[in-house]
Amino acid sequence: MSEQRKVRLAPSILSADFTRLGEQVAEAERAGADAIHFDVMDGVFVPNISIGLPILAAVRRATTLPIDVHLMIAQPERYLAAFVEAGADWLTVHVEEAIHLHRTLTMIRDLGAHPGVTLNPATPAAALAEVLPIVDQVLVMTVDPGFGGQRFIEEQVAKIVALRGALDALDTPGATKPTAILAVDGGVNAENIARVVAVGADQIIAGSAVFNDAQTVAEAVAALRAGIAVGLAARGGPR
Ligand code: DX5
Ligand code: ZN
Repeated sequence: MSEQRKVRLAPSILSADFTRLGEQVAEAERAGADAIHFDVMDGVFVPNISIGLPILAAVRRATTLPIDVHLMIAQPERYLAAFVEAGADWLTVHVEEAIHLHRTLTMIRDLGAHPGVTLNPATPAAALAEVLPIVDQVLVMTVDPGFGGQRFIEEQVAKIVALRGALDALDTPGATKPTAILAVDGGVNAENIARVVAVGADQIIAGSAVFNDAQTVAEAVAALRAGIAVGLAARGGPR
């Protein structure tokens, strides 16, 4: 079998124990996480308020892993520089909230971070067509954003397949930059991760499946990695 692309695992600290956040981040890093996913919610774009700049700066001090910041906030362009300053390596905005999306994504790259774009379950994949060539990450939401621990929305698998195809079509010898990674966020667990990987995800975000009372972070990461291996085998060939 030819070489496969590595599938990255990015635990979302939204489900971590915030009374010992530094330890939880360190546990994830020791367990072999590839990045830390950081969910920012403002109570306007989504019906919940989570964590912001001071906590990001603290997480930055707690890990050398890349920090993948998912902005679920109104008018994200107002805060891009502040999030990069606080430690974001990757910065993802919602297509539904960025009217001047091209400008916003360009700003993120100019700030030195990796621009990403994401879409709610009700938003069609086609909404991203014009920006796919200029982003480093495409994030498919498989829950309605706002809360950890929700159920995976099965119908979104077709969107993952569609975006896999659209990104692969951009992966040509003349391409000016590497094709964006395809990430999946929401309701992914040890039971369904293989299917998500099998249809082409490059990065898996998992919150409650990593940080929970039933297992250690190391056990959780090992179970997810086992599922990733099954999913990669099911792909059946190189991409
Ligand atoms: C949802 C967030 C997700 C969430 C994932 O709004 O964007 O990153 O933390 O949590 P789980 O894996 O529990 O669905
Ligand atoms: Zn997220």
